[in-house]
Amino acid sequence: MAADTTNLLTVRDLAAHYGHIEALRPTSLNGGPGEFVTILGPNGAGKTTLLRAITRLIPSSGKVEFKGQDVTKFKTNELAGLGIIMVMEGRGLFSDMSVKENLQIGAYKLPGSQADKDRQLDKVFTLFPRLKERLTQTASSMSGGEQQMLAVGRALMADPKLLILDEPSLGLAPRVATEILSTLGSLNKEGLGILLVEQKAPLALKLAQRVYILSSGSVRAELPTHEIKSHHDLAKYYFA
Ligand SMILES: Nc1ncnc2c1ncn2[C@@H]1O[C@H](COP(=O)(O)OP(=O)(O)O)[C@@H](O)[C@H]1O
Ligand SMILES: [Mg+2]
Repeated sequence: MAADTTNLLTVRDLAAHYGHIEALRPTSLNGGPGEFVTILGPNGAGKTTLLRAITRLIPSSGKVEFKGQDVTKFKTNELAGLGIIMVMEGRGLFSDMSVKENLQIGAYKLPGSQADKDRQLDKVFTLFPRLKERLTQTASSMSGGEQQMLAVGRALMADPKLLILDEPSLGLAPRVATEILSTLGSLNKEGLGILLVEQKAPLALKLAQRVYILSSGSVRAELPTHEIKSHHDLAKYYFA
């Protein structure tokens, strides 16, 4: 098949296994420039495996293209250099380092001057003012919600073109989860492409333009979110 230059991300027949466990069966999906795409699915569906395969944190078969370029053989850090940045499940922060140091690490590969990095930092502080108030605190001393803000802030420091997030609301109080997911909505309105794995279906569906439903390692459905009228529309795919 010819390279797809209309999409930001094109994933074709991506499959991955852990030993004998086929965690992800050949899966295809795509995301347009500036599109907000959500992946829903029950625990164990293969959502994290899919994101880890896309970002090359685990070996897989299949093909990944970014802006029409075949990046299947790229390493995770090379993908980051192109602007594909992931906020991992469990956040992946450096817990003994300060908020400031965690943010600086996010920007370390950013080309450009210190002034560019400072501008990026200001942008993060505008989105999450609480990070600015807690700059010298260690990451581990912050609340779960603040840590997730820091994880998203650190990803933004790398100036992503496609931000991938694995259940950023996991374990957070509803109000904080809403705050973080709404911020993703604002970033998307500014043109950032987002691929979000989420369990908080109602809000994720409100923000996204399109949703994929993953179950038992396969995509069961792909729907524009405006076609989803009720939970029943989703439930029928969940345990298919
Ligand atoms: N490191 C691993 N080793 C073995 N099996 C794994 C590993 N990670 C995930 N799995 C299995 O792969 C399947 C998909 O897991 P995962 O991608 O984490 O699902 P989800 O993120 O949708 O909850 C599950 O059956 C899970 O038990
Ligand atoms: Mg997961």
